[in-house]
Amino acid sequence: MAYLPDEKRYATMKYNRCGRSGLKLPAISLGFWYNFGGVDPFENCRSIVRKAFDLGITHFDLANNYGPPPGSAEETFSKIFKKDLAPYRDELVISTKAGFYMWPGPYGEWGSRKHLLSSLDQSLKRLGLDYVDIFYHHRPDPDTPLEETMSALAQAVRQGKALYVGISNYRPEQAKQAIEILRQLGTPCLIHQARYNIFDRWIEDGLLDLLSNEGVGCIVFSPLAQGLLTSKYLGGIPEGSRAAKGIASIKPETITPEKLEKIEKLNKLASERGQTLAQMAIAWVLRKSSVTSALIGASSAKQVEDNVAALNRLDFTDEELRFIDEVIK
Ligand SMILES: NC(=O)c1ccc[n+]([C@@H]2O[C@H](COP(=O)([O-])OP(=O)(O)OC[C@H]3O[C@@H](n4cnc5c(N)ncnc54)[C@H](OP(=O)(O)O)[C@@H]3O)[C@@H](O)[C@H]2O)c1
Repeated sequence: MAYLPDEKRYATMKYNRCGRSGLKLPAISLGFWYNFGGVDPFENCRSIVRKAFDLGITHFDLANNYGPPPGSAEETFSKIFKKDLAPYRDELVISTKAGFYMWPGPYGEWGSRKHLLSSLDQSLKRLGLDYVDIFYHHRPDPDTPLEETMSALAQAVRQGKALYVGISNYRPEQAKQAIEILRQLGTPCLIHQARYNIFDRWIEDGLLDLLSNEGVGCIVFSPLAQGLLTSKYLGGIPEGSRAAKGIASIKPETITPEKLEKIEKLNKLASERGQTLAQMAIAWVLRKSSVTSALIGASSAKQVEDNVAALNRLDFTDEELRFIDEVIK
């Protein structure tokens, strides 16, 4: 049966302006890093995306290398798009990125014009789209002049292959330069994508202030520390979880008794607030007005539903914030 999105999908989601641009992003966006690869059951991927769109999540984040295998998350997106979302293209913000290793030889990664523009063409083919809404440089390249990388991003916009551009994983000083170059090129930097969660607060050390002064949005990835900031690991490592699969940086050996003790305390605070820990962790990143969107991952439609309910309680008392600071010291 044809998919009909929920008519009330815009009723409860919050939309935040991305920096000083005209674009609004949902307070919660969905990423395709894991769980959408060629190895993952397609109908589950499809149900996650449908649930997200039904709940007002208009932004889906991809990259050339997401899978596994690399590239397959874009192909999964394309299949779902053709089946369910094509009539709603203008309601969607789709992003992709280039910069991490994608193909052999000197042009398969980093920040050359050659890599970025070839990779974008490959991504558009896999995604089955004429353009992406946001094209990112995925990580800074120590060897390529920043002017070359930024002018490749600007060229993608001039070619009509991207509407906006962004950077990811850039430290404040590099970000400042990139933002300045993009401004001179007439293609303002829309957004910076950076890791941020209760356990990893590096962006509070200069980056958030910079972005807010420059009018650049900030979308924060791994707000749940890949699942650690939920209650799922409190009773051991559940089968099928990211830690059980040993993927990404959430290896079983990183879930130490000390970490679990902290998670237990955070979990207790969350329940006193009438939330799950996942919901509190999302609300916590969104407490900063310079954070445009929390970019979550999910392995089921239910997780998306639970996480979006974070929006029911976003405020924190000073005492709660102090308690969280103490726990993670
Ligand atoms: N720019 C970059 O360099 C970069 C790097 C990393 C990520 N990203 C982007 O950010 C997105 C999100 O990253 P992430 O996947 O690390 O985010 P995350 O939201 O911190 O972690 C997602 C994982 O947490 C678990 N989870 C989610 N909701 C849950 C719930 N309600 N209850 C229990 N467990 C829950 C699931 O793990 P299980 O699979 O174990 O169920 C899920 O796969 C990526 O998809 C990607 O788009 C960008």
